[in-house]
Amino acid sequence: MKRIFVTLMTLLLSLPVWADEGMWLPSLIGERIGDMQKKGFRLTADDIYSINQASMKDAVVLFDGGCTGELVSAEGLLLTNHHCGYGAIQSHSTVEHDYLTHGFWARTHAEELPNKDLSVCFLVRMEDITERLAAGEDREEIIRAACEEGVGYHAAIEQMYYGNQQFLFVYEQFDDVRLVGTPPSSIGKFGGDTDNWIWPRHTGDFSVFRIYASKDNKPAAYSPDNVPYRPKRFLPISTRGVREGDFTMIYGFPGNTQEYILSDAISYIAERSDPAKIAIRTGRLDIMARAQASDPALRIHYAAKHASVANAWKKWQGEVLGITRRKTVSSKRIYEQQFGAWAQSHPEYSTILADLRGEYSRIMDAYFAREIIFETLASLPYSYSEEERAEDCFSHREPTERELFHYLFAEYDKRCPQDYRVEAFTEGVGECGSTDAYADKVFDELWTRSDTLSSRKLLASVKERLGAIVDSLGTKSLRNLNSKRLNELYTIYIKGLREWDDARAFYPDANLTLRVAYGSIRGYEYADGEYHIPQTTLEGIMAKDNQEVYDYNIPQALRDVHARKDYGRWGSRVNGKLTVPVCFLATNHTTGGNSGSPVINGNGELVGINFDRTWRSTMSDIEFDPSICRNIAVDIRYVLMVIDRIGNASYLIDEMELR
Ligand code: ARG
Ligand code: GLU
Repeated sequence: MKRIFVTLMTLLLSLPVWADEGMWLPSLIGERIGDMQKKGFRLTADDIYSINQASMKDAVVLFDGGCTGELVSAEGLLLTNHHCGYGAIQSHSTVEHDYLTHGFWARTHAEELPNKDLSVCFLVRMEDITERLAAGEDREEIIRAACEEGVGYHAAIEQMYYGNQQFLFVYEQFDDVRLVGTPPSSIGKFGGDTDNWIWPRHTGDFSVFRIYASKDNKPAAYSPDNVPYRPKRFLPISTRGVREGDFTMIYGFPGNTQEYILSDAISYIAERSDPAKIAIRTGRLDIMARAQASDPALRIHYAAKHASVANAWKKWQGEVLGITRRKTVSSKRIYEQQFGAWAQSHPEYSTILADLRGEYSRIMDAYFAREIIFETLASLPYSYSEEERAEDCFSHREPTERELFHYLFAEYDKRCPQDYRVEAFTEGVGECGSTDAYADKVFDELWTRSDTLSSRKLLASVKERLGAIVDSLGTKSLRNLNSKRLNELYTIYIKGLREWDDARAFYPDANLTLRVAYGSIRGYEYADGEYHIPQTTLEGIMAKDNQEVYDYNIPQALRDVHARKDYGRWGSRVNGKLTVPVCFLATNHTTGGNSGSPVINGNGELVGINFDRTWRSTMSDIEFDPSICRNIAVDIRYVLMVIDRIGNASYLIDEMELR
């Protein structure tokens, strides 16, 4: 039965041979290495991960707790994305030294800029401790002992497969990380939010940092006496480029996926949660965009907020589209039915689907309310600081801020399930007579600061409701529709699934631990008859260049380089024309957190820096569709060209090992 089903599904979906789903644990990469080598990887499992010798893992870091970075020189030089270094770049930018606008290049080590609260972590080692825990060893004791193994070490125990396996991760953290260089935003953020999640893409999304250490090469707090860190391993760089079909591997820290959730949860996401959140954000973005279009001061004021609201908004739309197009809910349902039939004769699992469904229906409204409250009431400001009030544009913001209060109050009122309402809101509306009147009351008080009693009361009530929801779900880590009970049930379900579907290549969901994804450079069919080739070039940037449009106004220096065709060794002939490759697409399974990850070729050389997916790819957080899921990377030759020709910082390239 099962086999027939699998064959049928394979035919139905007609998976291409390069179905490269998976985010694999580095210490277990031996299980995949044969497949990787078949697809073009020419190194060994020990080259990827080893605790006895330097390996590629020693060249990869968790950057700033949510991105990835890679070492590219013997002197601790590190590459990541511009959008990952954005906070650091912004913090050093002033009106006189506007590094966001003009870029920045340290000419000497002394000019490299230290950053408070910026750290990177290397994975020292990882260990399956499932059996040690089962034998009664104490978690805290294991962690404590691991932390004592070295200076700057910290450790964590992470669940894999909903706790079917537990791994210890030991990290070495460096806190002295300095900004070395960044292109101007017109390169690093080229295309802005317009091009975000989009292919064809032309963003030079990179920035350069350096790790500093004590004289004995150990982690140390910032000190002018610190010296560049000497890594155990750094990545050599290939300037030979990539071609469609070439092997690529991504080594990084993917944050959060849910590949094994029930169809119930997928339909919740695609039919209830995402559509509601998208609709709420559409209105919110409209309000901000109108303000931005009407007033240059407001354009700047709402820029960062608009960008961050729009990022997930676009991602969710792609996710819904992908899931709908692929009919993921119904194919998962069939899969579950097949499992359920098998489970009938396996008592351990015979009620698991019903138990999961029961728990889902118990928690769904509560979780939905939580999401709605986050998107509405909890996203409003409950005070305006003195600094804000002193800004020139403050008074210009009044109508927009008021409109946001009206809009988000109404959205909350319309969408939040009855059993999970915010008490003070209900009272306030009762007293004022309508949501609009209540919105005016709260907003007027906040704006004039005459008395903020009503907003304080509302905020406290919002927090109380959110707290009560978390309590009812029994778990604090609520990144997804989940509860303590669900997690326990999934432990059993996944165990059963792996027993039943023994031909499937299971990999643990992303949880911000180090993973390997591999695949190849591939375009895809974007629409009927419309194939997207997997590489863009400088010619595309020139075609988009527009001095009138903020997102597409490139630096004059880049126009000049293009006019002179002065590309040096970074140039390449594409369709017979001398140009510089800018971005490429690949089939690597990635997610948020993989930003800044090295894209590595079959020889173990760096060929690009990962920074995005195409928007319809974002369904890969739930189901990887090999026909459309693609990650987007910036080609290392464009990175080097910008460092060299725009930054005039070729001394940085001299540190690197180019091949
Ligand atoms: N979409 C990418 C990510 O999820 C890039 C976001 C930053 N870029 C932007 N234009 N907002 O992080
Ligand atoms: N830009 C995302 C990040 O910051 C990566 C894109 C994705 O979600 O794959 O991690």
